[in-house]
Amino acid sequence: MSEDDKTTNKAKGFARGLTNYGDRDFSLYLRRSFASSMGYSRQMLDRPVVGIAHSASGFNNCHRHFPEMIEAVKRGVLAAGALPVEFPTISLGEVFLSPTSLKFRNLMSMDVEEMIRAQPMDSVVLLGGCDKTVPAQLMGAASAGLPAIQLVAGPMSTSRHRGERLGACTDCRRFWQRYRAGDVDDQGIDAVEKRLASTSGTCAVMGTASTMASLAEAIGMMPAGSAAIPAVDADRLRMAEETGRIAASLIGSDKTPQKIMTEKALENGLRILMAIGGSTNAIIHLAAIAGRVGLTIDLKRMNEISDTTPVLVDLKPTGTAYMEDLHAAGGIPAVMRELKHLLHLDCQTITGETIGDRIEAADPWVDRNVVRPIDAPVRDNGGLLAVFGNMAPRGAIIKRSAADPNLFEKTGRAVVFTSLEDLAARIDEPDLDVTVDDFLVLQNAGPLSDAAMPEAGYIPIPAKLARAGVKDMVRMSDARMSGTAYGTIVLHVAPDAASGGPIGLIRNGDRIELSVKNHSIRLLVSEEELERRRAERPTETRSARRGYDMLYRDHVLQADEGCDFDFLRSAPI
Ligand code: FES
Repeated sequence: MSEDDKTTNKAKGFARGLTNYGDRDFSLYLRRSFASSMGYSRQMLDRPVVGIAHSASGFNNCHRHFPEMIEAVKRGVLAAGALPVEFPTISLGEVFLSPTSLKFRNLMSMDVEEMIRAQPMDSVVLLGGCDKTVPAQLMGAASAGLPAIQLVAGPMSTSRHRGERLGACTDCRRFWQRYRAGDVDDQGIDAVEKRLASTSGTCAVMGTASTMASLAEAIGMMPAGSAAIPAVDADRLRMAEETGRIAASLIGSDKTPQKIMTEKALENGLRILMAIGGSTNAIIHLAAIAGRVGLTIDLKRMNEISDTTPVLVDLKPTGTAYMEDLHAAGGIPAVMRELKHLLHLDCQTITGETIGDRIEAADPWVDRNVVRPIDAPVRDNGGLLAVFGNMAPRGAIIKRSAADPNLFEKTGRAVVFTSLEDLAARIDEPDLDVTVDDFLVLQNAGPLSDAAMPEAGYIPIPAKLARAGVKDMVRMSDARMSGTAYGTIVLHVAPDAASGGPIGLIRNGDRIELSVKNHSIRLLVSEEELERRRAERPTETRSARRGYDMLYRDHVLQADEGCDFDFLRSAPI
């Protein structure tokens, strides 16, 4: 290798990015020597390297089949003449993290970015799946600026309970609600607990993981048709092998994530988000990803897209089918074909075709029970909407496809819970002053709170109302909600209470007006009174003292900016 190659990025494989010992030839000799201890031949060591950034962990059930998938990726890389080298990064197992996985998404993105940059690789496969892992990988890879391709775990398969089909996690919530209402006994809920998540893979419905997988495909960072292949299907392994082959073909190309995730591509992502009735969390993740390539997600533009995009996919939590059914029905290509006239067809994808090419190449067969035609949609407009007003100057999100339209135009009395602890302590109190017409308000659960914006926006119906048969009522918070949840729920209120947002000024008995038609949410309290309450607010209440807690507290942004860290939001240089 020439001196020139050594000092520029033309160096390939293990010769790339040498450890600095002050003598480059010594560094290369030492690296090869240590790599040889892993049993590689010199012929292998001279190959360019495809890194496989994977997030397998004993604390991540969704990724338990990753060893098998990694082997398949390696086959594809080797067949294409490169050397596959896997490396672990932080894994975010959704239900194993406290206080919430979102808090650690940025940490994982930093891990992914820095390990791609610091280790010798020429392109990278990003292997993730569980909710926050795919956005973390896309954010990190976007910042690292190396050619990258996403590969996902694929969805879990459904199981059965007394003849009823079950899949995590919409059915988790449905059964829990029935248990709380007394319709399911202790024995019944124990049996369901064992059957809700019975294979590897990500949650079986259109939750956040499935939504982000669908969006990764729609914006062009994954091969066509790859989002919905079940985790346990042999096609998933074939897709892993193919992804390895493509990753090897990316070596030396300029197909960095920034080239694929353009403004138009992200807009395609928003269209698909609406058409699949996707998770509210995806808006936060898209905003964070956009920020990494120097773009923003404008919530007003999102509303325009939502108002002109029908929901076409009939999946839980808003419909009836599961992700495995979407795969069998034609997958994301079938959805994109219906929306052809609304998409930017000239967007390039990581596999070399344009989005238009992919649509042309897709199998024309489609199961209309799962993917509806554009002229007979599940609903006429998109599932998600941003609402604005004096209660949410920077916006809030409602998943109208999962909400009760009878509650869309309503004024209600606020029943306020000042924290998650307050909510847990009082929501089921028999003497709680609450009626079905009230609005439940949860404060101090936003990104800047100690709670770090958990999926607690799905505020339970107070026990006394649940027992009386109430299934839904208006609920609002600065928290998030699981993509698998449903109800008339206003989320991501920004700015949040902990940063001084108006949601923190609401008091019991205040009147709040929600209008989905006008995209508005208003606190019907005079500005003078709000000013008085603002002056009474205690100053800093958060408790971070050291380490990542402190980094998070000092740098996390609001929901409309994707809850990324301020210092990470810029295009790669
Ligand atoms: Fe991993 Fe739902 S718990 S995707």
